[in-house]
Amino acid sequence: MILSIESSCDDSSIAVTRIADKEVCFHKKISQELEHSKYGGVVPELAARLHAQALPKILEETKEYFPDLKAIAVTNEPGLSVTLVEGITMAKALSISLDLPLIAVNHLYGHIYSLFIEKETLFPQTVLLVSGGHTMIIEVRGFDQFEVVARSMDDSFGESFDKVAKMLGLGYPGGPIVEKLAQEGDENRFDFTVPLYNSPKLAFSYSGLKNQVRLAIADLGESITKQDRRDICASFQRVACEHLLHKLKKYFQSNRPAHFAIVGGASANLYLRQKVEELCKKYGAQLHLSDLAYCSDNAVMIGRYAIDAYTQKKFCDYRKITSDPKVFR
Ligand code: KG4
Ligand code: ZN
Repeated sequence: MILSIESSCDDSSIAVTRIADKEVCFHKKISQELEHSKYGGVVPELAARLHAQALPKILEETKEYFPDLKAIAVTNEPGLSVTLVEGITMAKALSISLDLPLIAVNHLYGHIYSLFIEKETLFPQTVLLVSGGHTMIIEVRGFDQFEVVARSMDDSFGESFDKVAKMLGLGYPGGPIVEKLAQEGDENRFDFTVPLYNSPKLAFSYSGLKNQVRLAIADLGESITKQDRRDICASFQRVACEHLLHKLKKYFQSNRPAHFAIVGGASANLYLRQKVEELCKKYGAQLHLSDLAYCSDNAVMIGRYAIDAYTQKKFCDYRKITSDPKVFR
């Protein structure tokens, strides 16, 4: 079995996964959403302190698996450096004390492997990664063979939902809140423009759309109503997804992927899922989705990647493990 640890942002999570059949034997996640909600976003120092309390508590529950462990896996990049180090320190300590090899896992590879939890891997495929930190189209050819073919030039898709929610005073994380309000809103009331519509670039941008939302809120002023908020959420969500779909269509037209997937926290958005499903149908691609429980950050996806890394003997010296907040190798 492999014990995996995730602490790249605001979720403390540990999982134990069996190597032979990929079964998830243990998984627990303690989210810090409530603690960060009043700030409208994650406060890194607070997140680190909460990881330092939560991770040892979860680890306590995994002791029965210790005799069966073959490796320790941990997210080492990208993420918040002060929170990554909490998981890395625990992983190093376990690796040394239990005399087990250490596997360093790139968080984004983890999201991609959320597709393969309790399943076999399926390559090649093209993946749309939409999370709080990233918006990318990635061509996945095999184990550790990833190529980013499009990325956001500024804010990410998930982050833009967080910022819209913050501007509307709705709390954090914004994605699920905005999606819920959007269900009762008029998506055509606000005519926000689709970013980079006339640009030939395969790239994303969300900062301009966020600004359009800010101006619409300012226009409504103090008299903003519940229905105004719902309409803003619906119109914003429509345009945020239209932007993704417009660029994906371009990609599909020239690349025709047979297998396509959406991963990352924001891939839980049902409106987006439906739009991408229609696109895949039109272009004859098979759509793959992670279980809703594994879209947002979790240690199970880190453990699933680690199984393939273990099979390939891709280990990391505990004295050399590094953590880079931004990297995607
Ligand atoms: O993957 P994740 O848990 O953390 C990162 O690696 O960033 O993604 C969290 C992000 C947050 O920005 C959150 O607002 C967004 O995913 N998110 C959503 C939805 N659920 C979560 N965005 C849009 N619609 C959702 N239903
Ligand atoms: Zn993530």
